[in-house]
Amino acid sequence: MDKRTFLKNAGLAGLGGMLSIDSLAELFNSVSSVSSADLAGDDDFWASIRKGYKLKPDYINLENGYYNFLPEQVLEKFIEHVREINYQGSYYMRTVQFDNKKAMAAKLAAVAGCPPDQLIITRNTTESLDMIIGGLDWKTDDEAIMAEQDYPAMLDMFKQVSKRYGVINKIVSVPNHPQTDDDIVNLYASAITDRTKLLMVCHMINITGQILPVKKICDMAHNRGVQVMVDGAHSFAHFRFNIPDLNCDYFGSSLHKWLSVPLGAGILYVRKDKIGSVWPLIAEGERKPDDISRLNHIGTHPVHTDLAIADAIDFYNTIGAERKEDRLRFLQNYWTSKVRDLPNVLLNTPADPARSCGIANVGIKGMKPSDMGDLLFKKYKIYTAPIDGAGVHGCRITPNVYTTTAELDVLVKALAELK
Ligand SMILES: Cc1ncc(COP(=O)(O)O)c(C=O)c1O
Repeated sequence: MDKRTFLKNAGLAGLGGMLSIDSLAELFNSVSSVSSADLAGDDDFWASIRKGYKLKPDYINLENGYYNFLPEQVLEKFIEHVREINYQGSYYMRTVQFDNKKAMAAKLAAVAGCPPDQLIITRNTTESLDMIIGGLDWKTDDEAIMAEQDYPAMLDMFKQVSKRYGVINKIVSVPNHPQTDDDIVNLYASAITDRTKLLMVCHMINITGQILPVKKICDMAHNRGVQVMVDGAHSFAHFRFNIPDLNCDYFGSSLHKWLSVPLGAGILYVRKDKIGSVWPLIAEGERKPDDISRLNHIGTHPVHTDLAIADAIDFYNTIGAERKEDRLRFLQNYWTSKVRDLPNVLLNTPADPARSCGIANVGIKGMKPSDMGDLLFKKYKIYTAPIDGAGVHGCRITPNVYTTTAELDVLVKALAELK
């Protein structure tokens, strides 16, 4: 059955009805012969995914980067979990809480392509990465490398470690338009000395959406005896990769971003041989040194969020990682290719598909990003994230799979008009 016949039979074409996960799976089966790249630009098709999102009519949301709010299919399951945990009460907490959390971590490890004994569920990227930054055995004059484009919470944690232990922080600046991977690898390599202990690198820079050649950076750093921690806040469930293939030592991400898990869930991956050398954020009872659960004590927390991870993964797998990545890259290319050469516009994100996916940043020459964001919102009813710093001056534009090309046409028109 093809897509149109499926929708007609399901009685859903044009009715505004949301498809259940099972119906979505059938819909995707009905287009299994269509390549993911062809499907990426089929707005009619993605309209059936859009129906699962309750969208505010007030503005076009092109700021899905902070929080990828949930499709209704996942939200309904989440609410069921909240009710169930409230019904079970302490009984749940004392019986299956920890087994369930472990099962969710195993599902996430499958998405991440890593062994389940090397990944834990945290509350967010900040907790994951700050645990590593704060938990290494720092000595005075040890050095750490990071970029000014990194996320402020991690840079602040490095500042604290510097004050506390006398660690020297070396800060590089990543160009918005590198010509080659070597430009980036050499930039990080040039900051390494005999005293360098840890290098932090973003998989995808949050303010521009630039994807960095993380594996090459890890290979280079390991050759020089330096550990690497990857900030994957924006890469996990956005574009495809397996964490172990990056050859990093540590990787953190937030699941409320691209996996659309309810707020307050993240992952931390620690390579097996590194688990024993990290001090946990919160002490755990006696464990074997390489047991990752020693890093996972957080006390009582919203366990219903943990349970919704399985539902978010079901939704993600139903769409399919390749189809999601292709859709997001299509949407970004759709608008950036129309404005990249406009004389008033400055694109702060590389065009190379290896260096970008769904997120891009655009500035208007001579206009403050905050003014640009205000104008986009007030005049054109487009919600974005203005960025003004670290060599990036413009608004971050983050569509999600439900975004339509008609919405992006409004952005393109606005960018052409803004001066
Ligand atoms: C690159 C990057 N790292 C870390 C974070 C922190 O994420 P969270 O607030 O979920 O811990 C963000 C949030 O936007 C981010 O973009």
